[in-house]
Amino acid sequence: MEKMIGIIGFGNMGSVIAERIKSKYKVLVFDKDNEKTKDSRGIEIKDNVVDLVKVADVIILAMKPQDFESALSEIREYVDGKLIISIAAGRTTKYIYDNLLYPTGVRIIRAMPNLLGRIGKGATFLYKSSSANEKDIVFAEKLFGALGRTWRIEEGKEDRMDFVTAVSGSGPAICCYRIESQSIDTHKMSAEQKKDLIAYLKEGAIAGGFNKKDGEALAENIVEGVINLLNLSSITPQMLREQITSKRGTTEAALEALNNGFSIEEAIQAAIRRAKELSRG
Ligand SMILES: NC(=O)c1ccc[n+]([C@@H]2O[C@H](COP(=O)([O-])OP(=O)(O)OC[C@H]3O[C@@H](n4cnc5c(N)ncnc54)[C@H](OP(=O)(O)O)[C@@H]3O)[C@@H](O)[C@H]2O)c1
Repeated sequence: MEKMIGIIGFGNMGSVIAERIKSKYKVLVFDKDNEKTKDSRGIEIKDNVVDLVKVADVIILAMKPQDFESALSEIREYVDGKLIISIAAGRTTKYIYDNLLYPTGVRIIRAMPNLLGRIGKGATFLYKSSSANEKDIVFAEKLFGALGRTWRIEEGKEDRMDFVTAVSGSGPAICCYRIESQSIDTHKMSAEQKKDLIAYLKEGAIAGGFNKKDGEALAENIVEGVINLLNLSSITPQMLREQITSKRGTTEAALEALNNGFSIEEAIQAAIRRAKELSRG
């Protein structure tokens, strides 16, 4: 039988995941703001988080990092035997495990998707903690494959999640910021403008610790995804940037740096610092 996927938080990212996987899995959602879920179709809405956690096999934590502590305390009694996948910036697998009060049989994975998953052009980086097994990470790859490409972060290198959060999670917003500040019309942009945009994002990726080859692949993925998303919908670069920018999150830190005249390298470093601050709680 296909696994039941429960998503806690139906905001910008939680809703993208739910929409992309709902044709393949039974999807249950709980958001404490029921305005967010009122127009959803093909997704079962739960009235409270405990009802969701009790029946779901896989639980995706899609709340903002600052909402984790209280949410984890509400679900900790019901998570034994479940696979938990957190998409939050800066919340480590240890933080989740500790705040669930060391449950037995829980397997924890971290995922860092991006909003380009909305049109299947996203990038998701996955990190398996030692509590999870190979089957779990293969399953997570399949699940997030519905949003675009997936990459694995080597076991024991969870720190890398802060770098990919800055580059891949925030990258589409940085790309939008550049499009806005250079008044680029993505419907009519020249090959030269696109090349410049990729080169700009690549500089950011390298500043975030990617090698040249991977940095270029990711930069191309982000630029292509942003252009596609903007050209296929009525969304503006400003709207897309705002959907990616959570309050006090990593993207906000990167955009503040750019607004203050700093370079892309410095903006990525600011986002990494914010991710590290979040991981310290
Ligand atoms: N946006 C992105 O591009 C992106 C990319 C990668 C990863 N992420 C990560 O994804 C997470 C969500 O980001 P987002 O941009 O989707 O945020 P968002 O739009 O604010 O969505 C989060 C939703 O969760 C709800 N919520 C908060 N506490 C809850 C609880 N205890 N139970 C159920 N629902 C709860 C919020 O309600 P209220 O609004 O009422 O608080 C909100 O509707 C963050 O941790 C972020 O780091 C985001």
